[in-house]
Amino acid sequence: MNAVVAIDGPAGSGKSSVAHALADALGYSLLDTGAMYRALTVEALARGLDPSDEGALGQLARSLDLVLAPRVLVNGHDVDDLLRSDAVNAAVSQVASHREVRTAMVDRQRQWAARQPVGTVAEGRDTTTVVFPEATLKVYLTASLEERQRRRGDDESAESVARRDEVDATREVAPLRAATGACVVDTTDVAVADVVKEIMTCLATRTSS
Ligand code: DC
Repeated sequence: MNAVVAIDGPAGSGKSSVAHALADALGYSLLDTGAMYRALTVEALARGLDPSDEGALGQLARSLDLVLAPRVLVNGHDVDDLLRSDAVNAAVSQVASHREVRTAMVDRQRQWAARQPVGTVAEGRDTTTVVFPEATLKVYLTASLEERQRRRGDDESAESVARRDEVDATREVAPLRAATGACVVDTTDVAVADVVKEIMTCLATRTSS
């Protein structure tokens, strides 16, 4: 398997900034798995699908033509600016809770990582537990609820962050939790560069043992 550093954690734990900075530092490609679920949700809403309709969403997840970089395209349409809309924030957890949807997305994520030339930093809930259980390094980021709500700031209400935590942590398929053996980093009041340093130390320890 190509080198994979998988980063998990709840909304606002710093996954996105840390994953970007870490991918830069290591020269790895960045896989934002949340963006994939968000892109699927944009398309599902555009087609008027019900976020509870597992069959229709699973079919869509399997058939979608999805491009992740440099912008997110669904069936050739640039949906990057729509990924973080209120409508998507409100529906994405439910869309992502279905087994059929997750199976299709996990397949895509593994195939994507296998194609990368150097390695992958994969960011998102379940990347350490389900998608890449054999990752070179698994990282679980945490932060206090107050700090996480503050970080989401303009993008999302405090209630929405707390509600997504609840849905993501209690869902039946792949609930959010720290993987066994993960390098756990509390990012409350810690600068991104220092979090990256801590992860590099974990990586050095894991790959030398
Ligand atoms: O990381 P994010 O906020 O962009 O993720 C959006 C939603 O997608 C989140 O509420 C849960 C879901 N998600 C998931 O279930 N599994 C992933 N690997 C990534 C995201």
